[in-house]
Amino acid sequence: MYLDDLLLVADELARAGWAEANAGNVSVRLPDEALAELPLGPGGPWTPLARPVPELAGEHMLVTARGCQMRLVSRRPQRDCGVLELSGDGAAWRVRWGLEGTTPTSELPSHLLSHAVRKARSGGAERVILHTHPPALIALCHVRAWDTRSLNQLLWSLHPEGVCLFPGALAYLPFAIPGSVEIAEQTCAAFAEHAMVLWEYHGVFASAPTADAAFGMVQAAEKAAVIYRDACAMGGVRRGLSPAQIRQVAASLGITPAPGILGEEDGSHAV
Ligand code: 13P
Ligand code: ZN
Repeated sequence: MYLDDLLLVADELARAGWAEANAGNVSVRLPDEALAELPLGPGGPWTPLARPVPELAGEHMLVTARGCQMRLVSRRPQRDCGVLELSGDGAAWRVRWGLEGTTPTSELPSHLLSHAVRKARSGGAERVILHTHPPALIALCHVRAWDTRSLNQLLWSLHPEGVCLFPGALAYLPFAIPGSVEIAEQTCAAFAEHAMVLWEYHGVFASAPTADAAFGMVQAAEKAAVIYRDACAMGGVRRGLSPAQIRQVAASLGITPAPGILGEEDGSHAV
């Protein structure tokens, strides 16, 4: 089931136009019952981690392969994804299934450190982390110097789904080198408060209980950015949902928006 969900979301990411060439990667922290569904092997040699993750000791992670193309993952799952077992001290991994002739995604440090944080923050509910390159959100990074507050004030004001689908806000992180321990540590720090992060000029990193939920969060944020782009093309944003309206939408669904985003001002924008 978890493998099927990963293959479906890989197709979906490609169809959405967010996965040029080898863009994006997915990881799933597998529950014990899922392990019986996969033909796990005895395991190859252990590979040490630059940043150990004792919080994930003994866990099994389904991950996409470095360099794989999302549109092709469902055709050759044994090559384009695989199951990693983390050692008893969380300091190394070995392959138990798949990744035939390939290695795990270059963003493995970000995935592992982020799973460690979100596992604790969600009481174990969040199992899927998805990274992708949605073009309108990336374009937004080039428009002005955002911070988490100004970015979410804008995104939530454009469409009522925003505050409903990412009430924890999309954290804005300054540019860091893809695949680096630095981007992993920044993401992990942001994930203490937020379930979704925008990597400046690069893409989105989102954590949720299921692949569908993670995809939906990214879709809602990207949709708001597309609405902003279209409104700008129509002459610019003149109005938008006011903070009071955003609060009313959230309250109607029993949702609490992340603190520190909504001010008292009306719906006009600085951009
Ligand atoms: P991988 O092919 O190594 O997963 O990298 C893709 C990517 O988007 C890096 O940020
Ligand atoms: Zn990327």
